[in-house]
Amino acid sequence: MNVKLKIFRYDPQTDKEPYYRQYEVEADPMDRLLDCLNRIRWEQDPTLSLRMSCGHGICGSDGMRINGICGLPCQKLVKDFKEEVLIEPLPVFPVIKDLVVDLDPFFERYQSIKPYLIAASPPPEGERRQSPEAQRLFEDAIRCILCACCTASCPINQNKETEAYVGPAALVRAFRYLFDSRDEGTEERIAILDQKHGAWGCQTLWKCTEVCPKQIPVTKEIGQIKRRIYESKHPKG
Ligand code: SF4
Ligand code: FES
Repeated sequence: MNVKLKIFRYDPQTDKEPYYRQYEVEADPMDRLLDCLNRIRWEQDPTLSLRMSCGHGICGSDGMRINGICGLPCQKLVKDFKEEVLIEPLPVFPVIKDLVVDLDPFFERYQSIKPYLIAASPPPEGERRQSPEAQRLFEDAIRCILCACCTASCPINQNKETEAYVGPAALVRAFRYLFDSRDEGTEERIAILDQKHGAWGCQTLWKCTEVCPKQIPVTKEIGQIKRRIYESKHPKG
């Protein structure tokens, strides 16, 4: 089938303004949109820039806006698009070139929530063990591939006045450690999350959950963080 794509182009070093360029490629209906973008780069226009690696929804590097919705072109089948497909970079982040955005602000916020196990007690002989039930509490969050689609889609992050909000992706990772029975950093994690631009920055708008390509219940997990903060300040009994 013939696929038409309208792609955002911008090289800040040479272009005064962003613009859109149209392309057409022949594709099998079961090809992915990423295959079309690669075909454009390889066969028509090698100046088109985008990030990709695995091609199979694992690395999280090809987040972009497809017909206005953030997602991964490696997960979108060509047959599901009947009209011209609009391809743009992720919003919120500065454009480096074309579909490549600067994710430094994303990873700075991610680092701010201490995305690692905090365990001061001496390690046991073998592993730090955990029951399957305890692991199930956070196993959805483990699927996160840091594609940034949730943070880019969040109206709070998109608003200049509230863009300091740490964002849903960082909160998913915070959830993953806050609810890990092996982690001993609860107090310092709660101090980081109990902030205006921490977990309380979330206004439960659900956009993150709608776009997450790994079907993580992002908004629900942020709600559980809020409840955990509340309970730490209002212990029962
Ligand atoms: Fe991507 Fe989902 Fe992780 Fe957000 S929570 S970074 S949308 S995988
Ligand atoms: Fe790796 Fe899409 S290319 S997730």
